[in-house]
Amino acid sequence: MSDIPFDQVDKNAVSDETLEFVRVNCLMELSSLYATRMFLRDFQGNPDFCQFQSIWYFEEMRHYLVLREYLKVFGAEPDFESLDEFDTDLKPAPWPNTLAMHWCGELRLGRWYLQWSKAAPEPVLKQVYKHIADDEFRHAQAYEDFMERALAEDPSLLLPFANASKWMLVNPQGDKHPTTYGAGSADGQAVTDRIDGYEDMQGWIQESVPDEVERGLEIRILKTLSRLSGTQLQSRSDLVRLTLSLQEEASMPPPTPNPSV
Ligand SMILES: [Fe+2]
Ligand SMILES: [Fe+2]
Repeated sequence: MSDIPFDQVDKNAVSDETLEFVRVNCLMELSSLYATRMFLRDFQGNPDFCQFQSIWYFEEMRHYLVLREYLKVFGAEPDFESLDEFDTDLKPAPWPNTLAMHWCGELRLGRWYLQWSKAAPEPVLKQVYKHIADDEFRHAQAYEDFMERALAEDPSLLLPFANASKWMLVNPQGDKHPTTYGAGSADGQAVTDRIDGYEDMQGWIQESVPDEVERGLEIRILKTLSRLSGTQLQSRSDLVRLTLSLQEEASMPPPTPNPSV
């Protein structure tokens, strides 16, 4: 945080609209708090992953805090008292799907932040967004390493990994971020539904993130899944075909042992 020159923020370069974008973005980053509770509950069988959570949580909260500090320069930081309005519990879910969803989610967020860093009208905000993008890409790599390790122990995990990735790639403009989406919340209400101004934020995301960014994400995800599955995946249809064949394999009864042996 001390690397960021908050005293050099050029206030004249920041419009009310940009400040509002940063405010909603700041509150979205707070959702790592609810996700951490979910991770520690649903990944109980994986102590290594739970230990990694201490780093992930620290870095995600740093995103919330750095954006909060930026808003403070303008006296526009979120009110501490109102933060519990956004709190939620995420429903228990199978950990392999959660892991793959977060892998894709971090890759997508890294691309968004990089885009916002390029588009930011103010130099310090540019710098903040570049740092956050770097963190999100590093998180994606950590999730990918955990997926690869889990797969080496249990190859059948390829099916939930491929299914969750497919879900993340389809309809990307929808409510798809794993820490904030409504269906994952215990009361069915998305974290983002609780954030006043999120609808505008969604519009800004669509305006600021060109289609080729999402296409780049798809290529990146397919490349890794090709490596992990040993199958060349060049399109989403290839991924659908892979999940169907894995599904079929998984539903086949195990071969009967030969009684003569
Ligand atoms: Fe983050
Ligand atoms: Fe992240």
